[in-house]
Amino acid sequence: MECVVSGIRPTGRLHLGNYFGALRNFLSMQEKHQCFFFIADYHSLTTHPTPVNLRENVKTVLAEYLACGLDPDKCTLYIQSDLPQTAELYLLLNMNAYVGELERATTFKDKVRQQPDNVNAGLLTYPVLMAADILIHRATKVPVGKDQEQHLEMTRTFGNRFNRLYKTNIFPEPVAFNFGNQLIKVPGLDGSGKMGKSEGEGNAIFLNDPASVIRKKVMRAVTDSGPTTPHSQKPAAIENLFSLLKLVSSDETYRFFDDQYNNCSIRYGDLKKQLVEDIVMFTSPISEKIKAVESDSELLARAIRTGKEKAHASANETMKETRKAIGFSI
Ligand code: TYM
Repeated sequence: MECVVSGIRPTGRLHLGNYFGALRNFLSMQEKHQCFFFIADYHSLTTHPTPVNLRENVKTVLAEYLACGLDPDKCTLYIQSDLPQTAELYLLLNMNAYVGELERATTFKDKVRQQPDNVNAGLLTYPVLMAADILIHRATKVPVGKDQEQHLEMTRTFGNRFNRLYKTNIFPEPVAFNFGNQLIKVPGLDGSGKMGKSEGEGNAIFLNDPASVIRKKVMRAVTDSGPTTPHSQKPAAIENLFSLLKLVSSDETYRFFDDQYNNCSIRYGDLKKQLVEDIVMFTSPISEKIKAVESDSELLARAIRTGKEKAHASANETMKETRKAIGFSI
């Protein structure tokens, strides 16, 4: 049995990128492994220092976790800030994380560009906090999307460095994981990069978007006038629509439109209609469930309570050994 850790920031509702990049893996992993899944509320302060609806947003993500099928009896579901041991490990790891290596992280460089007025130390040390999340349970597998790959590499660096410095083997080497073997990047609908909450209105499809909103977003997605030579390479925006189709539609449907593309008979309007139908079929049961779970405050409170207890037991073990390795009293 492996130990698995992963988290999602509570900066809004979950979208298809979160689902297919991370949550889908959580669901299969909870059946076989010892899993810790958390809501990364400390992390959200790096971009939203005074979050307006933090409590509400945390509750929403928890409801979405449960609605998708995460089971508090099979895995440990907790809120990051309910486990302050994480902050202690973060402090200790920070002592051996070098500014130069942190400044080279792609995500840090992106954030410096996106929020030049708030380049805080938390942003710089974001990968150290993430390493603490993972190492606090001594995880070996971390289900994440492609955008987190570099953070995992840094986690291995920090864990190995700690082991070497303090002559211990407390921390195993965690690897980023996707059950399809390759980490994935779910594209957004604006024709360029990944689906994300901060990538602009209409780019992301949220799990609880009503059908009418999904339709509007998909129908507005960028396309072109269609291929003129058989078997030509798909431009990025078209490739993105096909990637989404691959995630939510049957193989047969995918092949049907792919063949049409290859023989230049494709009508993007038809492809989009099919895509809308298949996304709605996928999200509507989840969306219904989210509504039910969100209003069940007893269920949410119980999940938070049990998650916190189980997470504490695991983290306390790690911190005892970590403090001992450094030479602190335990
Ligand atoms: P966050 O909140 O941005 O995203 C949560 C998870 O969803 C994945 N994801 C995607 N995957 C594929 N395609 C997309 N378009 C897409 N958008 C989001 C992310 O890869 C991630 O797995 N730093 C993390 C949260 C975190 C964490 C951790 C994760 C904090 N500590 C420890 C794992 C282990 C983050 O910002 O994810």
